[in-house]
Amino acid sequence: MRIIVNKAKCQGHARCWAQAPDIFTLDDEGYILPGDINVAKKDELKAARGARSCPERALALDRG
Ligand code: F3S
Repeated sequence: MRIIVNKAKCQGHARCWAQAPDIFTLDDEGYILPGDINVAKKDELKAARGARSCPERALALDRG
């Protein structure tokens, strides 16, 4: 699974990071780093939870 990061939508809520700090990396100001995230099978549940927790919908799941 992959998470597609729309950096432009991120407002720094950090809810993704709160759910899965080892998957979502924030910069010094609390915004998500740009670039899609490849997620290992074992981490899919918490990664999906983190992505869905973003109130700005900056994180999309790609299960293809
Ligand atoms: Fe940004 Fe959403 Fe995470 S606003 S810091 S991608 S919860």
